[in-house]
Amino acid sequence: KRIAAILPAAGRGQRFGRAENKLFAMLCEEPLWFHTARVLASRPEIGRILMAISDQDRPVFEGPYAKLVNILRIELVRGGSERTDSVRAGLDALDGDNSIAMVAIHDAARPLVSDADLTAVFSRASKTGAAILATPVPGTIKRKINSDDHSITIDRRELWVAQTPQVFHVDLLRQAYDRYRGRPATDDAELVERIGHPVALVRGRADNIKITYPEDLWVAEAILNRESKGG
Ligand code: CTP
Ligand code: MG
Repeated sequence: KRIAAILPAAGRGQRFGRAENKLFAMLCEEPLWFHTARVLASRPEIGRILMAISDQDRPVFEGPYAKLVNILRIELVRGGSERTDSVRAGLDALDGDNSIAMVAIHDAARPLVSDADLTAVFSRASKTGAAILATPVPGTIKRKINSDDHSITIDRRELWVAQTPQVFHVDLLRQAYDRYRGRPATDDAELVERIGHPVALVRGRADNIKITYPEDLWVAEAILNRESKGG
C-alpha cells in the first residue's frame, strides 16, 4: 500500500508581508510550492499528492501554474480558513481509496526536507502508526512567570521543535479528525495525541525550515545553493 501526501497550501502568508501568497515567491528560479511538491513527487512510495489551496489562489494554480501542477500529478483540493480545515479537505479527498495506507502531511512552505529524513519518518510511522520530524530545541528556554521580572529555566533536554512531514496510518488520522471538535490545534500530531495515541519523534535536520518571514527565503536559497555545489 502507498502513502498519500497532503500539502496544506491554503494560507495567506501574512507574516511574509506580500500581497500574494508566499508560496508563489521565487526560490532559485522556481516558485516555493513547486520545490516542496517536487521533493515529495520524487518519492516512489508516494502515490497521490493532494494540495489544499484557497479560492483566491485557484486561478493561479489553474492558470499560469497548471502545467507544473500536471507534471507532478497534483490534485488540487479546496482548503479552509484554518490549517486543520485544509488538511481535512485533503483527507476527505482520500475517502474510499483503499490503496492508501499512510498519510504524510507536509507544509507547502517547507521546501528543504531531505530524502534521508523522509525515509526515516516514513519508516517509523509504518511501525508505530504516528511519527513526525522534530529537532531538539537549540537554545535555553525560559518561562515567564507573571511579569517580565520573573522567569525560570526549562530543562531543554525534553523539548523538541515539531516539523513536517507528520505521518500517520490513515485510519488513525481519520479517527483524530473525526473527534476534532473545532478546538484549534497547531499541528496534526496534537489531534492524534488528543485521542490518546503516542506520536514518535524522529530527529530531523535543523535546515528543514518553514518559510515564514522574507529572510527565511534568503536562508533557503543559501541552503539550496550549498546542496547543488555538493557541500
Ligand atoms: N495553510 C493552509 N490553510 C490555512 C492556513 C495555512 O493550508 N488555512 C498552510 C500554509 O499555506 C502553509 C502551511 O499551512 O503552507 C503552514 O502555515 P504558515 O506557515 O502559517 O503559512 P500561512 O498561514 O500562509 O502564513 P501566515 O501565518 O504568516 O499568514
Ligand atoms: Mg499561518
